[in-house]
Amino acid sequence: MNQPTWTRRHVLSLADFTLAEYALVLQTANSFEQVLARRTRKVPTLQGSMVVNLFFESSTRTRTSFELAAKALSADVINFATASSSLSKGETIFDTVRTLLAMGVDIMIVRHRDSGVPLAIAEDLDRSGSHVGVINAGDGQHEHPTQALLDLFTLCSVLEPSDPRPELLKGRKIAIVGDVLHSRVARSNLWSLVACGAEVHLAGPPTLVPSDFGHLGVTVHHSLAPALEGADFVMTLRLQKERMEQNLLPSLREYHRFFGLTRARLTNCLPHVRVLHPGPVNRGVEISSDLLDDPRLSLVAQQVTSGVAVRMALLYLLGGGNVGRI
Ligand code: NCD
Repeated sequence: MNQPTWTRRHVLSLADFTLAEYALVLQTANSFEQVLARRTRKVPTLQGSMVVNLFFESSTRTRTSFELAAKALSADVINFATASSSLSKGETIFDTVRTLLAMGVDIMIVRHRDSGVPLAIAEDLDRSGSHVGVINAGDGQHEHPTQALLDLFTLCSVLEPSDPRPELLKGRKIAIVGDVLHSRVARSNLWSLVACGAEVHLAGPPTLVPSDFGHLGVTVHHSLAPALEGADFVMTLRLQKERMEQNLLPSLREYHRFFGLTRARLTNCLPHVRVLHPGPVNRGVEISSDLLDDPRLSLVAQQVTSGVAVRMALLYLLGGGNVGRI
């Protein structure tokens, strides 16, 4: 089979990702997972390159994992602290970006509370004639492509650890439970899971999972049991407590009673069912603590570990890599 090639300069959304691209990301991440398992977890691939983490919104997992990934590829990493930068003196985001460009940045990882900011930065960089790549690390309620790619890698690695590939998900039932409406993680996952042929079932109250999501080729439920019945995997999402203020939910306790994931509720899933959560978690709200911490059922730690390999893969591909050279 011909080695698929990578043509993207930016990773902003999964809406137009092809199966060949998913396959290439998974295959590359699999090679990097082996690098990360070595005693010296470093390769010289991006030596001399500069990666900037430009996070305008708080993050634990995503920012740390991009930093580790860039360092494992021997890149120089700048963690740009937006709060203490000239942005607080009124400089525009674009001027900040041009400043970083003048310093020789190669790849920018951007997170912002507003949808579309990573795209606007990428377009501005393209207009300037630069070859800088932009990775969307989460923009508003729009997309979080690297989270969905690491989820995909985690799922496929569970199904076949030595050769995780997208077609392994064909016909698998995956339930996504919780605040789908406001979740950029869910939006990116919908693109990837549907493209890989999974049967995606959404569950949550109508205020958080509107029926019109059905247009995307998924099944919408407003109760948990039918979504979990026969499921191979269950993804829970953070209940964004800030939504409580908008009266979208009666109470956290009520939410947990109807949609909280517990060990007992998994009994109608397939016997090999595994549970995912992108973090950060509200323990006892969207998922019970004992289920979250049960390594036989929960893939949460594996998701975090996979995140480094998947982000290495993306940095590598954006940096012009080809798999043979790892
Ligand atoms: C999420 C995010 O920030 O989009 N977390 C993550 O990146 N792992 C999910 C959330 O905030 O609920």
